[in-house]
Amino acid sequence: MLRPKKERTAKVKLSKEGIQKAKGIFSFMRPYRFAFLIGWIFLVLSTSVGLIFPFMMGQLLGAGSGSDVSSLSDSVKLINLKNIDDVAISLFVLFGAQAIFSYFRVVIFTNVTENVLKDIRQAAFRKLIFMPMDFYNQNKVGELTSRMSSDITQIQETLKTTVAEFFRQIVIVVGGIAFILVFSWKLALIMLSTVPVMAVIAVFFGRFIRKLSKSAQDQAASSNAIIEEALTGIANVKAFTNEFFILGKYGKAVEDIRALNVKSGLWRGLFVSFIIFCLFGAIVFIIWRGLLMTQGPHPELSPSDFFSFIMYTIMMGASIGSLPDLYASIQKSIGATENLMDIIGKDDEKTIFNGKATPKITGDVVFENVQFSYPQRNDISVLNGISFEAKKNETIALVGSSGSGKSTISSLLLNLYGIDSGKILFDGFDIREIETEHLRKHMAIVPQEVILFAGSIKENILFGNPEATEEHLIEAAKQANAWEFIQSFPEGLNTQVGDRGIQLSGGQKQRIAIARAIIKDPTILILDEATSALDSESERLVQDALDKLMVGRTSLVIAHRLSTIKNADKILVIQQGVIAEEGTHDELIHKNGTYFNLVELQGIDLEN
Ligand SMILES: Nc1ncnc2c1ncn2[C@@H]1O[C@H](COP(=O)(O)OP(=O)(O)OP(=O)(O)O)[C@@H](O)[C@H]1O
Ligand SMILES: [Mg+2]
Repeated sequence: MLRPKKERTAKVKLSKEGIQKAKGIFSFMRPYRFAFLIGWIFLVLSTSVGLIFPFMMGQLLGAGSGSDVSSLSDSVKLINLKNIDDVAISLFVLFGAQAIFSYFRVVIFTNVTENVLKDIRQAAFRKLIFMPMDFYNQNKVGELTSRMSSDITQIQETLKTTVAEFFRQIVIVVGGIAFILVFSWKLALIMLSTVPVMAVIAVFFGRFIRKLSKSAQDQAASSNAIIEEALTGIANVKAFTNEFFILGKYGKAVEDIRALNVKSGLWRGLFVSFIIFCLFGAIVFIIWRGLLMTQGPHPELSPSDFFSFIMYTIMMGASIGSLPDLYASIQKSIGATENLMDIIGKDDEKTIFNGKATPKITGDVVFENVQFSYPQRNDISVLNGISFEAKKNETIALVGSSGSGKSTISSLLLNLYGIDSGKILFDGFDIREIETEHLRKHMAIVPQEVILFAGSIKENILFGNPEATEEHLIEAAKQANAWEFIQSFPEGLNTQVGDRGIQLSGGQKQRIAIARAIIKDPTILILDEATSALDSESERLVQDALDKLMVGRTSLVIAHRLSTIKNADKILVIQQGVIAEEGTHDELIHKNGTYFNLVELQGIDLEN
């Protein structure tokens, strides 16, 4: 079977398997592991220094109170902290060290992250561009790219800051608990049973409010879509006098935004009072209990240690508060990494179409009882045993009603999909044995729908052969009957086309595509003629260009134009995936069968 395995489209929740996949990111980090390690060393250093701050600050504040009793902190401190100046100076030294450590941590982490992301971006795109067609049928391109870019942003944020931050906060919480337990286990227990609880409640409360304002934002976005739609299609709105209808629709959307925002305002008000009352209340409660301990003839706690305790409490409160969000962010990143690694780990075309032969391709093509259904629609058989032969330099025309399978045959020729059964042979070689890239190098297609890339006309033609010379390029444009209109643009070949450039007409686009095919100089040419009618002048120009292009090549023409059909060496009439009739124009026209009917039905002008 050449067909790729069915893709799993359902997004998996964080699972063992998912984490296993996400681990793939480590292989991207390996080249930068030394830098990363150094970054971690700075992180550990700056975190440990950060952990000493509250202690020092407390001592600084306590030292001023004069009544410092000999305390536990005496055994902890390495320098004499009785003196305000000493404490202040050592604090400055610590700040200095912290500043330097943090600087290097941020710089190194950013460096490693950006390097890793550069590699991931490239690997992901390399994978995407080599994916089999089937993959694109199953995944919407817009979704795929936006998901990828949001996944990458998520990972970027995490690698750069979240992981470091998460580690830092954990150390602060754990270290902080250890410190305060040493100062006073009693007060520590009181503290631990109040502040963290409040902090966590605050976080979830906050998240709930954010969710509310997020839905208000979404609502705002969809109301903007109404405006955008209406203004883009303003001519239609006016023509149908639908202004009031749209105003009504918008009015309702705006009312929804108001209601949602008012609701979230209500909760925000509650949130603010909660914070003021409960969280600060808890802190006041601890300060009160703590101060009591410093009183009396035999105080349990020295003022310095008390201040340090409070410093740790505030710091830990903040840390605990930030943990859930950090954790959620890391969790999201694991999901994002899993998505990306999933793409990077997929089988690409080279694995699926693994032919190695590079025979000389002269243009002999044979289809032998080819059966095919599109992978994602296995139940519908598109080709049901197609057999024909195209000899070198012959022109084979395919005709048939819309949806009969003509374009599908051209896709199979390009090996965009693997066939279910039967054989496709090029010069006697099975398509499965030929290296796909080698095969495609010998073919060119002028597709049914020409898509020009954003860029100049020149770039678009050179797409057929990036190494072609300027003369070659102009020659191709001339043969394609495109030179005249290209020259009529002020910027000639450098005229920008595509999304941000000028819009070319259907016939002009086709002629660019023909020039693209000419410059490739293929052995086998596939023309999927556009069904949309061109005016007779463009039609003549395009036809003339095609006639020139077909000389000396094997051509498979999905034909709507009589002249191509008339001159074809063989006409295949495709009906529902089988060849209903076969012969030259003259043979078929006298049969009064499918071809005759089709030609009449499709209005192909026989008298032309
Ligand atoms: N990517 C795809 N995935 C699934 N089914 C497809 C795909 N492309 C085409 N089909 C189906 O295969 C059948 C043949 O389509 P094909 O494009 O080959 O028709 P066609 O003969 O080229 O028609 P037209 O003259 O309109 O271009 C149709 O039923 C179509 O719905
Ligand atoms: Mg088609």
